[in-house]
Amino acid sequence: MKNINITINDQKIKVPEGTTILEAARANGIEIPTLCAYEGMGPHAACRLCMVEVKGEAKEKLACAVKVAAGMEITTDSPALTEKRREALLDMFRQHTVDCHHCSRVGGTRIEDLDPWFCENCFFCDCVRDGFCELQDLARQFGISELPFEPKTADFPVDDSTGVLVRNGNKCVKCRRCVDACKNSQAVGILGMVKTENGQTVGVTGGKLLKDSGCIRCGRCVDVCPTGGVILMEHKDQLPYYAHERNVKTAALVDESVLEEVTALYGAASGSVSLGQLAAALKKIGVDEVYDAEEERRITAAETAKVLAKRRKKSPAIIAADPAAKQWLKENHSELEGDFVFMESAQVRFAAETKGRFDKVFRISGRNSLAAEVQDTGCADYFYNARELFRILKRTGADPTRLTAIPLESLGGGTAATEYEPVLGSVDWVPGGAPEIVDLKVKGKAAKAVICRNPSQVKEALKVKDAAFIRVNA
Ligand code: SF4
Ligand code: SF4
Ligand code: SF4
Ligand code: FES
Repeated sequence: MKNINITINDQKIKVPEGTTILEAARANGIEIPTLCAYEGMGPHAACRLCMVEVKGEAKEKLACAVKVAAGMEITTDSPALTEKRREALLDMFRQHTVDCHHCSRVGGTRIEDLDPWFCENCFFCDCVRDGFCELQDLARQFGISELPFEPKTADFPVDDSTGVLVRNGNKCVKCRRCVDACKNSQAVGILGMVKTENGQTVGVTGGKLLKDSGCIRCGRCVDVCPTGGVILMEHKDQLPYYAHERNVKTAALVDESVLEEVTALYGAASGSVSLGQLAAALKKIGVDEVYDAEEERRITAAETAKVLAKRRKKSPAIIAADPAAKQWLKENHSELEGDFVFMESAQVRFAAETKGRFDKVFRISGRNSLAAEVQDTGCADYFYNARELFRILKRTGADPTRLTAIPLESLGGGTAATEYEPVLGSVDWVPGGAPEIVDLKVKGKAAKAVICRNPSQVKEALKVKDAAFIRVNA
């Protein structure tokens, strides 16, 4: 691609033609505030925080949506831009029930209330994203510590109809990240702007409840939401409560997918917190036994490998492990049912193996879709993702970054990886994008596998000639 010359903040730079102003700035270490932008997703042009000045243009341009042109002279920071960004933020807060930290000791609703000089971690504060909310971070960045108006009342009904997800229009900033993820990555597309008697918000189109909408409960909307607009159902009290109870025997089943986000939330270096440290933190809270879900996954992977080895069909095996991916395939590709090879769930297997041994089992994973499986099968009592685990660890002071790693408990019978591991191992989710083709060697012969990191990639994967395996993630 041709490179072009532009100027950002008097700095002359060369960038590939076709990049947005935001991409060009970030590639050159220049930060522009954003809220609705999300890497890998199309521009949403919703928050206006990325506005920049372009020489010769009367109006500001949105850096996330406007592409660079040769000779462009851009200013990303000026007193006028700061003021307009503050106004844009205040506009978002005008449509938001700001109860970040409604502390009964302070008795007010102020964004600065979470500053730790008075906080005793009593957890009577209100918002699930308090302390790790992108809107709250931006408010601090722009010096908004008190709102010059009364916070909005919570007049949008909260949709918790699935029992797993909670959509709260009162904390939605209409950034449309969830709409994009649901439609363009998950190929479900049930979200959009909806009109209600209290104004417009983002929700399930057609006014349906989430439980009646075709939602596959993948939880990707939760992953991408910058605020408390959509969250997983909270169970923040149950883990510490049962873990402390002397007569309640507890276990936690954890997997590595939770580590990266927990580490980032602690502000620690990537890869610096281990599962052993997390186990030490959970035991500090009082959890009796902590198991690595990877051991169970390897057993189920070995069983699935046997199924694949016996398979004689020419058509590709469509492999899924994630409950949301299984549901998506059944609902969207029932014609391929004969090719489905679904892995048994590690947590369902753990529940069967430990039946009756524990009074309460906590499932901890970075994969939100497992919350639905916990609810549907009863294979654990409560599900926790990285964010909720972080809140509990902060509340109890069990900081894994300061603890020495301990070995996790084992049920025995861990199985070595098979030659099918690239299609049976864990697959990271990314928004949009194209499937990846991986060359395998199975029974001494070359075999082509296609890895879909989200359901939207399946369409392309099905066109790949001579594919022996298609792995689908959701
Ligand atoms: S979503 Fe963010 S800004 Fe809104 S109340 Fe919660 S923590 Fe505060
Ligand atoms: S959980 Fe998945 S399917 Fe349901 S609304 Fe969110 S992104 Fe869409
Ligand atoms: S629910 Fe969250 S992700 Fe969706 S539009 Fe609202 S703030 Fe954005
Ligand atoms: S990041 Fe550009 S409008 Fe939100």
